[in-house]
Amino acid sequence: MATSNVVCALVLSSLFHFLLAPVLSRDVHALEKCGFKAIYQLGDSIADTGNLIRENPLSPYASFPYGLKLSKPTGRCSNGLLMIDYIARSAKLPYPGAYLNSARKFSGGRGGVNFAVAGSTALPAEALSSKNIVNIVTNESLSSQLEWMFSYFNTTCSEDCAQEIKSSLFMVGEIGGNDYNYAFLFNKTTEELNALVPEKRMKKKIEFAEVIVFDSESHSYTEGGCN
Ligand SMILES: *[C@@H]1O[C@H](CO)[C@@H](O)[C@H](O)[C@H]1NC(C)=O
Ligand SMILES: *[C@@H]1O[C@H](CO)[C@@H](O)[C@H](O)[C@H]1NC(C)=O
Ligand SMILES: *[C@@H]1O[C@H](CO)[C@@H](O)[C@H](O)[C@H]1NC(C)=O
Repeated sequence: MATSNVVCALVLSSLFHFLLAPVLSRDVHALEKCGFKAIYQLGDSIADTGNLIRENPLSPYASFPYGLKLSKPTGRCSNGLLMIDYIARSAKLPYPGAYLNSARKFSGGRGGVNFAVAGSTALPAEALSSKNIVNIVTNESLSSQLEWMFSYFNTTCSEDCAQEIKSSLFMVGEIGGNDYNYAFLFNKTTEELNALVPEKRMKKKIEFAEVIVFDSESHSYTEGGCN
């Protein structure tokens, strides 16, 4: 079970605290005011709702006890729902379906799409393997999820994609924890790890993520919720 411990290691970022504050408040639909039309999620096991198990049906998340409270295993690394589900529920949207779930594609992906894959890394698999760090779970990464997302929008958006996705919530992460998990698993030192982060490339990724997040912002958001 070492693998699942690595993959399911929980890293809670301040973003989640920020977003979850109103969700955990008494108003169960606190995010409804935001008027989100869809939620698009990128990330790892913290957010995967069924992508990894479609790539690898033998993954432990395809069996109980995962999904015990949902009456069947769904690919969530949890016995029940994940943060993204509660966020969707609070926004009064359906749970964003897993990108690799063909049933979701069939239904048009209403409410958004979840591109997160358990075990995925921020850096591309090739960048890690060039340093002798192997992703033992999946070869998906932030880059490959972004490619999925662009090809999804290419096939679903009509002319003005920016306009169409304007009122969407983009959840970028948590992602990057597994880069460290695998590096430590392959006995890299902290110095080797620091050298691994190609600042320019990450900066570009982060700037890009900010662009899509800000592009889609149609409401001002404070710690108290949407205005
Ligand atoms: C990742 O890709 C490499 C090279 O194509 C392949 O050998 C390996 O099995 C893949 N790993 C996973 C977990 O899919
Ligand atoms: C999306 O469409 C544009 C314009 O047709 C094209 O340049 C781009 O490569 C496509 N991207 C993906 C990921 O399919
Ligand atoms: C990492 O180090 C441990 C302890 O020395 C060793 O047992 C293990 O095989 C090493 N792992 C790799 C991938 O080299």
